[in-house]
Amino acid sequence: MDKFVITGGNRLTGEVSISGAKNAAIAIIPAVILSEGVCRIENVPNITDVTAITRMLYDLGAEIRSVNKSTLEIDPRPIRSYVASYELARHMRASYYLLGALLGRFSHAVVTMPGGCDFGVRPIDQHLKGFSALGASYKLESGMVDVYCDELVGNNIYMDVVTVGATVNTMLAAVRAKGTTVIENAAKEPHIVDLANFLNTMGADVRGAGTDVIKIKGVEHLHGCTYSIIPDQIEAGTYMAAAAATGGDVLVKNVIPKHLESISAKLEEMGVEVEEYDDAVRVRRTRPLNKCNIKTMPHPGFPTDMQPQIAVLLSIAKGTSIINEGIWDNRFRYVEELKRMGAQISVDGKVAVVEGVEHLTAAPVKATDLRAGAAMLIAAMCASGVSSVEDIQHIERGYEDVEGKFRALGADIRRVQEQEKPSVAQAV
Ligand code: EPU
Repeated sequence: MDKFVITGGNRLTGEVSISGAKNAAIAIIPAVILSEGVCRIENVPNITDVTAITRMLYDLGAEIRSVNKSTLEIDPRPIRSYVASYELARHMRASYYLLGALLGRFSHAVVTMPGGCDFGVRPIDQHLKGFSALGASYKLESGMVDVYCDELVGNNIYMDVVTVGATVNTMLAAVRAKGTTVIENAAKEPHIVDLANFLNTMGADVRGAGTDVIKIKGVEHLHGCTYSIIPDQIEAGTYMAAAAATGGDVLVKNVIPKHLESISAKLEEMGVEVEEYDDAVRVRRTRPLNKCNIKTMPHPGFPTDMQPQIAVLLSIAKGTSIINEGIWDNRFRYVEELKRMGAQISVDGKVAVVEGVEHLTAAPVKATDLRAGAAMLIAAMCASGVSSVEDIQHIERGYEDVEGKFRALGADIRRVQEQEKPSVAQAV
């Protein structure tokens, strides 16, 4: 397995272009199953989670053509199977979107219990609640979820918690159900809106996405279409955090600044300058970072997927900051790694107290999950000395060409085979 070797201390400067949103892509690609024609999906990020979900569609029988680096054409018509491949699905959380999509198309879906990042318990009770409300039954057997029905019929569903996954899955099942479905207490993330826009481009009737009530009038047919995925809010936020951490000056391009407001607001509170343009933000830091408190919440609150990256900034800010994780039970596993670089953080359940230190120092660390891995890269870029970040397969699930993009901004980062040791010259 490869790792990243990073020599810290370089200010990041220049421009970086943000790729399509991972969490939109991995909902939209399974949604193609519902179509009766070819869908051309543009601005698809080149990341391993997309490769995996695309491969799952291929294994089901879809015809898939890569038009260029970021455009896929998917013909779902040849799909005959409603049973998803176990090997691929078990590693990836979003494989459960095949449940909603296959149920919508075949009234039957069999998918393994999902994998993905380990943040503690990741239940799917709300997904099953959504399917049941639409008239489906389910069995959980030998690690597989088997959902089936004679026909799906629209209904009112109140989600007990705000959940992205269950909102997406219920939308997928409901678009071709008979009658109207109303999802209350729905998630409002930008990728929910993107999925709704994609479904509507295929001929669905989905209204209210982006608010907490989504209304879906079922239609009999969905047609092929061309659709471009929104830019990735979290990838953008990660480069914004990296620019701030290194005292840099970076123009983050191809973004929707509105999606970044909660991140920009916190950076500004820390003393970072953020300038908004139509489809870009410029992030510049010229003075020490101030402490600040963070509470992660569903959109439009501060995103949990930016929590580890911001923790790096707080670990070198002046004073004591408090992070309150409002979504996941166990999203502080990366803290032990950050402490190896000299960060002073104590964790108690879903709360972390961060005492800012003068600077971080290089250390060998590992990516405990996707965003934790991104945080380790940022920490290594602002630490003095040569760090290595292992288990980078987590990072590659969600960041396109992370090495190339950081390098173009001036970072000293290179990918090496695990057994290759940095030379003495690099280590001093
Ligand atoms: N929850 C339930 N029951 C359910 C589903 C969720 O209790 O049936 C709870 C979860 O345990 C959690 C909360 O609801 O406490 C929110 O979970 P949600 O369903 O929103 O999360 P998810 O759909 O599994 C997506 C992203 C995550 C991101 C969360 C929150 C995808 C594939 N994953 O997960 O992204 O952290 O929403 O925004 O879209 C990442 O990209 O790094 C990542 C982990």
